[in-house]
Amino acid sequence: MITTEQVLQALSNVIDPDLHKDLVSLQMIEDIHVDGEKVSFTLVLTTPACPLRTQLERDAREAVMTQTGAKEVNIKTISRTPGAKPLSLGDNQFGHVIAVGSGKGGVGKSTVASNLAISLAQQGANVGLMDADIYGPNIPRMLGIDEFHPASKDGQKIQPAIAHGIKVVSIGFFVQEGQPLIWRGPLLHSAIQQFLSDFDWGCLDYLVVDLPPGTGDVQLSLAQSLPISGAVLVTTPQAVAVDDAYRATSMFEKLGVPVLGIIENMAFLELPDGSRMTLFGEGGGKALAERSGVPFLGSIPFDQQIVQNGDRGLLIVENHAESPAAQAIHTISRKVAAELSKQAYARVQGE
Ligand SMILES: Nc1ncnc2c1ncn2[C@@H]1O[C@H](COP(=O)(O)OP(=O)(O)OP(=O)(O)O)[C@@H](O)[C@H]1O
Ligand SMILES: [Mg+2]
Repeated sequence: MITTEQVLQALSNVIDPDLHKDLVSLQMIEDIHVDGEKVSFTLVLTTPACPLRTQLERDAREAVMTQTGAKEVNIKTISRTPGAKPLSLGDNQFGHVIAVGSGKGGVGKSTVASNLAISLAQQGANVGLMDADIYGPNIPRMLGIDEFHPASKDGQKIQPAIAHGIKVVSIGFFVQEGQPLIWRGPLLHSAIQQFLSDFDWGCLDYLVVDLPPGTGDVQLSLAQSLPISGAVLVTTPQAVAVDDAYRATSMFEKLGVPVLGIIENMAFLELPDGSRMTLFGEGGGKALAERSGVPFLGSIPFDQQIVQNGDRGLLIVENHAESPAAQAIHTISRKVAAELSKQAYARVQGE
């Protein structure tokens, strides 16, 4: 007869590669049932977009089979962010708010923010994207929703656009094309608060926020208006972009916002002969990550499809999912999800 203790014992030998602890100490195992040689339990993942899901399930199943002699192992996998209190605003809940920032303009922030959001959704998470770039809200065009007009179905909450499997709200929905926004300080703060509370976001695992470039007052008040769980910074490998990104890293650190890592975009162009042309220099992103003591999340190559997509409302993670650039974005989104669950776990440990 297999006992619950034997199952727990077997699962305490399975290590989560991100958190470096076993599934039992991480309290990831619940509801163990044993019926003869059949074992079932719930595996509670720490992130909804868990890149390790298949591996953890396989390792857990194998451990229980080999160590208890069970013939059948049924695993129900759910996700719950450990100890993180999701931010609740009315009926809206935000598991994690990820800000995408950069020191310099034009380095690919909006491209990264939108593809990152969609990649997280493709991995099974509920995702929202908020375009907070008051200088140049590009998200509506990039996602092909520039004709969208937000409205309320019930006279209460406003419906976000739904595009490419995610919910989207842009500051661009509220301004006329070509008219610059002059929102500052308190006005900007209340606009952002309304974006979070007045739209029908529902329960989101991740809200990705596209910030305007730079580290001026506007960026500062935006970063302070948002309950950011972590920021990712986009840079090109070029020295001037890297210097500006370093300032952005410092800004977030001063605000107490953890920097989840650095993303290097337009890192190289692959030539037909397979060689790499480094248009903006080499290694800037990695060097910045080392200098600021934050993880390097990866390099996205230059890809002409991204340029063409940008104007047509298409996203590379969808329409060229096999391309090296899309693959790089997937790898980055998995690392971002992993960094967030590591942080949430560390917070629980510290409490
Ligand atoms: N990896 C890439 N390969 C090719 N083109 C890219 C890549 N990343 C971004 N681009 C292109 O570079 C331009 C700038 O990108 P994007 O708008 O995402 O930058 P941004 O940092 O959000 O700019 P801004 O500071 O104006 O908000 C766009 O035309 C986009 O299509
Ligand atoms: Mg942008």
